[in-house]
Amino acid sequence: MMPLAPDITQNTIVSVRDLEVRFQTSDRRATVKAVDGVNFDVRRGETFGIIGESGSGKTTIGRALVFLLKPSAGAIRHAGIDPLALPRKRFQSHRRDYQIIFQDPNAALNPRMTILSSVLEPLELARVGTGAEREWQAREALDRVGLPQDVGERYPHQLSGGQKQRVVIARALTLKPKLIVCDEVVAALDMSIRGDVLNLFADLQRELGLTYVFITHDLAVVSHISERIAVMYLGRFVELGPTERVSEHPLHPYTQALLSAEPRPLPSHLREGSRIMLQGEIPSPIDPPSGCRFRTRCAHAQPLCAEKTPEWRELHPDHWVACHFAEHPNFAPN
Ligand SMILES: Nc1ncnc2c1ncn2[C@@H]1O[C@H](COP(=O)(O)OP(=O)(O)O)[C@@H](O)[C@H]1O
Ligand code: SF4
Ligand SMILES: [Mg+2]
Repeated sequence: MMPLAPDITQNTIVSVRDLEVRFQTSDRRATVKAVDGVNFDVRRGETFGIIGESGSGKTTIGRALVFLLKPSAGAIRHAGIDPLALPRKRFQSHRRDYQIIFQDPNAALNPRMTILSSVLEPLELARVGTGAEREWQAREALDRVGLPQDVGERYPHQLSGGQKQRVVIARALTLKPKLIVCDEVVAALDMSIRGDVLNLFADLQRELGLTYVFITHDLAVVSHISERIAVMYLGRFVELGPTERVSEHPLHPYTQALLSAEPRPLPSHLREGSRIMLQGEIPSPIDPPSGCRFRTRCAHAQPLCAEKTPEWRELHPDHWVACHFAEHPNFAPN
């Protein structure tokens, strides 16, 4: 186990150690190991990207990070604090500092409530200030995310998808969070407005000193916005490092395959002609492959890969990987 950062540097806002999240299947006959032993720290003020195919456990990590679900094992600390050890009332107020935004703004907004009422709701629940102060804060948040003045009096169905997602962001901002988990927040939006919403996230981060955990299956999105990225496969991290380093020198065959499937931007040895096709589907997290979980789809798999789980190793400063052969000189294709 990696030592838990004592937070002396004040640099760590979230520490995750040996995190496991399990679910029972609906017939209660089997256990889904959705997250199965993940370690990382999120640094204050950064954007930490998590990428991986659908079903790899990204949303489950996101929900655990803000304590929408309880870890089955392992530890999550918020700036050195164990939120689960707080008394109930303090736990409730603590949670306001750690928010999550999901993909579908329609699921987050009540169609029968005006935009202003939706944005006011968390302020009212938290009993912040007077009624007039709350309204001022809600309107300011709507203004900050670039929505027109009269939007507060409208209903969700009168807004575009991008506008609705801006409302959801405004609502998360009213409680002045320290960290926001953004789970596929632009996936449901038109290509044409994704850039605008991503730029909004970047602007808000600069203005408000926010930290983001940015979850996506889209490599272009994550590399656009993140300082560091973690690559997730079947409940585990397989690689973690500075975005530029991971995209230019991917160490794990899964990361290499993800990168080679991208039309741009590519490290030279992965450009056209050396596209690595990912074979088959992601296996079930109910009964994952022994040893290295990626071995059933890995072009470099050896007998050792079925026998032994690769260790999580810091192969270069700040660049972590879980593959037995990551330092092999002939490893990267071509
Ligand atoms: N509440 C739940 N009950 C049972 N299985 C779940 C539940 N939530 C997620 N899972 C399973 O856990 C795995 C990871 O899911 P998820 O975290 O949503 O992945 P991702 O966000 O990367 O697509 C999937 O196999 C999914 O079916
Ligand atoms: S440990 Fe083996 S199977 Fe897993 S990624 Fe490395 S080479 Fe492939
Ligand atoms: Mg998800």
